[in-house]
Amino acid sequence: MNYRHIYHAGNFSDVVKHYVLTLLLQKLHEKEKAFSIIDTHAGIGVYNLQSQQALKTNEAQEGILKLLHSSQDRSFFEQYLKVIQKQKTGFYPGSPVICRAFLRSQDRLWLSELHPEDFQSLTRYFDKDPQVKVLHQDGYTSLKALLPPREKRGFILIDPPFEERNEFKTLVNGLRESYKRFATGIYMIWFPIKDLKPIKEFYAALKGLEIPKILTVEFLRKPPITPEFLNGTGLIIVNPPWKIQEKIEPALERLLKIFEFTEGYVRLEWLCGEN
Ligand SMILES: C[S@@+](CC[C@H](N)C(=O)[O-])C[C@H]1O[C@@H](n2cnc3c(N)ncnc32)[C@H](O)[C@@H]1O
Repeated sequence: MNYRHIYHAGNFSDVVKHYVLTLLLQKLHEKEKAFSIIDTHAGIGVYNLQSQQALKTNEAQEGILKLLHSSQDRSFFEQYLKVIQKQKTGFYPGSPVICRAFLRSQDRLWLSELHPEDFQSLTRYFDKDPQVKVLHQDGYTSLKALLPPREKRGFILIDPPFEERNEFKTLVNGLRESYKRFATGIYMIWFPIKDLKPIKEFYAALKGLEIPKILTVEFLRKPPITPEFLNGTGLIIVNPPWKIQEKIEPALERLLKIFEFTEGYVRLEWLCGEN
């Protein structure tokens, strides 16, 4: 396990992923009924952008820092930026802290993190928080244990590090098993876009699951022709809330402009179904 998210915290890909995450979490508030959130690959919760590791790559510079310092209209990102700006200056929240910001008193959050040090940091962060449970356990194993949630309402974030060659396959299997247990949950899966071959295979495998509603979101900073480079960031949304695509697309188009990704593009497509 070599991957450490501190080297990438707040980069363009985190901004896209976490912005869409906040949109989906807001939707859960439309009903009073309690929900559970499961974050299968949680990381450490909050990242110091001034740390040696973060400054080594300086990826936040063309991500969150660019958005925060932009003079362009940022109204699309209001809710997301509200969560970011609640952190101490120079710190960026990861998915656990963003999810926690959307819990009401009746809701719960489950976090899985396998890296021993990251698990400890996360445990310290949520120490004594009765609504959050941190598990030192493989994220896919957690899904088997936790689904379906007792509330029968839930959101699942699957955000693996893609260190393993077969991660796309593992994702498809994980989603198959999870969907069998809990077909009404909203799932958001993150994946890297380097070149298109593995993505095409991934989409074909997802189609084979015969899940009625799957939306794909692609945000490219460059055409995907150099497989050694993170050219773009992708999201799979299972059971997307009604017309969410109409919120995501214009916001991501705006983000391309803010980031000055002049060769970039955004593409949303229904892999299965439509709404
Ligand atoms: C991309 S990072 C997560 C970032 C986080 N979701 C966020 O948005 O802030 C992936 C994390 O998964 C952890 N990890 C790797 N393999 C895992 C596994 N099988 N189960 C759970 N966590 C794992 C890594 O240590 C790393 O912290």
